[in-house]
Amino acid sequence: MSSELNPGLILGQSKEERYKILLEQMPHLIQQEDHWLSSLSNFVAVVNQVFSDVSWVGFYLVDNGKLVLGPFQGKLACTQIQFGRGVCGKVAETLLTEIVPDVHKFPGHIACDSESNSEIVVPIIKDFVFIGVLDLDSTSFNTFDEIDKVYLEQLVAVLITNLTIPFPVK
Ligand code: SME
Repeated sequence: MSSELNPGLILGQSKEERYKILLEQMPHLIQQEDHWLSSLSNFVAVVNQVFSDVSWVGFYLVDNGKLVLGPFQGKLACTQIQFGRGVCGKVAETLLTEIVPDVHKFPGHIACDSESNSEIVVPIIKDFVFIGVLDLDSTSFNTFDEIDKVYLEQLVAVLITNLTIPFPVK
C-alpha cells in the first residue's frame, strides 16, 4: 500500500461517487509487490472505512473444496462454509454475484450475525479459477443494489489484477 485514502475525498459523497473514488484509488492502495494477505486485509479495511452502512465485509477463500474465512472487518464470523450452503456457498456454485435484500427470505442463509438483514456476495475468479468470494453484510434491509454489484465487481477485478495469490490451496 503506497498511499492512504483521504477521508476528506469520501465524506458527503453519494454511494456511486464513493465507489468511483475507491476505484481510482484502488490500484495505488493494492500493489503487486504487496503480500496477498496484506492486500486482502487492506481491501476490506478500506471498504469498511468508506461505507458506513456495511456492518461486515470480508473474504471467504477456497480451501480443500470448501470456503474458509479470510481477512474481514466486523464481528466474529463462521470459519467454514460448504459449497451450496448459504449465500456464499450458492455463489461458489453459480459464480454469479448475489444481491440479497432480506437475508431472512434467503433459503439456507447462514446467520453469522443475528443483526444482519441484507447482503451481497461477489465471486472472485483469477485466471479462470474460482478462488473465493467477497461478502458484505448490512444491518439495514435493501442496502445493496445494482450499483454495488457493478462497482464491487470492478473493485474485485482491480484487486485480482494486482494480487499474486497461491489460491486455491487445494
Ligand atoms: N451470511 C453468509 C455467511 C457469512 S456471514 O454473513 C459473514 C452466507 O449465508 O453465506
